[in-house]
Amino acid sequence: MSHDQLVELAFSMLERAYVPYSQFPVGAALLCADGSVFTGCNVENAAYGSTLCAERVALVKAVSEGHRDDWSVLAVAGNGADYCWPCGACRQMLFEFCPELTVLVARGDGDYVALPLKQLLPYGFGPTSLIPAP
Ligand code: THU
Repeated sequence: MSHDQLVELAFSMLERAYVPYSQFPVGAALLCADGSVFTGCNVENAAYGSTLCAERVALVKAVSEGHRDDWSVLAVAGNGADYCWPCGACRQMLFEFCPELTVLVARGDGDYVALPLKQLLPYGFGPTSLIPAP
């Protein structure tokens, strides 16, 4: 699947978003090496802090289906004037499984930028950070 198609898929998830509080739908689509794609949308909650971001919905769908170490590209899309930058918590969760991930970040007019996750989260704390010093 091309980058353009992955972004289009992320945009198509906006209609699934459950956003009664922010009215800000976000869609995501995560492409794996074997061509599998896991989609996500944000799912809000009356207890606001329980809200799930679109990227993390896609992430947990992938991991729970056995795809945890073959990610290649994630697209995230929103309708705003600015690019729909992944929040800090999503960057951290993505880094856990794929520091080498490429992230496509789209804005409402359809334009998008491609960035390495390592640029979005430099010096990220990950599984190897927990290895004790000898
Ligand atoms: N949101 C996401 O889905 N992903 C992000 O990375 C940023 C924020 C959602 C959460 C909430 O439902 C809405 O956008 C407004 O913050």
